[in-house]
Amino acid sequence: MKQDELKKLVGEKSVEWIKDGMTVGLGTGSTVKFMVDALGRRVKTEGLSITGVTTSKATAKQAEELGIPLKSVDAVDHIDLTIDGADEISADFQGIKGGGAALLFEKIVATNSKKVMWIVDESKMVKHLGAFPLPVEVIPYGSQKVFERFEQKGYNPTFRKSADGNSLLLTDSENYIIDLHLGEILEPERLADELIKEVGVVEHGLFLNMVNTVVVGLADGPKVLD
Ligand code: 5RP
Repeated sequence: MKQDELKKLVGEKSVEWIKDGMTVGLGTGSTVKFMVDALGRRVKTEGLSITGVTTSKATAKQAEELGIPLKSVDAVDHIDLTIDGADEISADFQGIKGGGAALLFEKIVATNSKKVMWIVDESKMVKHLGAFPLPVEVIPYGSQKVFERFEQKGYNPTFRKSADGNSLLLTDSENYIIDLHLGEILEPERLADELIKEVGVVEHGLFLNMVNTVVVGLADGPKVLD
């Protein structure tokens, strides 16, 4: 099966966990796009009544077009379940997210959720994190200085470019992303502590001890790990 077919498989499978009356965090990315499409179909055909809390402008636009009722994270008293994609998941269920530049809102929504589910194709399952560049969201002011400190530490930073390659990418919060090309992250907790203490860093893409269930797309069907 192609990667996109595996993403569709898990996206469609994951909406089985969504029940009437739930408040659901809606992640960001190409896998989540399939999930939101499937959720939209359930809202339309079954009359499923849910409230969605989105993690990006892109997901909000898609959900609105499908008629999924939305509220902001600050307007709900709880989120029952958040379903999101991931860029890498290690053997001990730690994750890297932010390939789609939505890591800040994704982490806020995940942190405020009772349960978190990640939906991924099998290529995302790794032994150790770090082959995927670790995204770090930084405020534009002083970002060159943060970049230089990362360089001095040997983190091989690159500023993420916009889709047309002509400017720096701006996140939904109008920040920049610096991707760290680390190769392997053997101590994710230590690195997470270090990054969040760096002045100018808004958030990083290490999502540690946050996920309850992972649905992996395999050629012979979705596999649920929890
Ligand atoms: C966005 C993310 C995405 O969930 C992650 O990049 C996976 O994306 P995709 O499903 O397109 O592979 O973290 O910030």
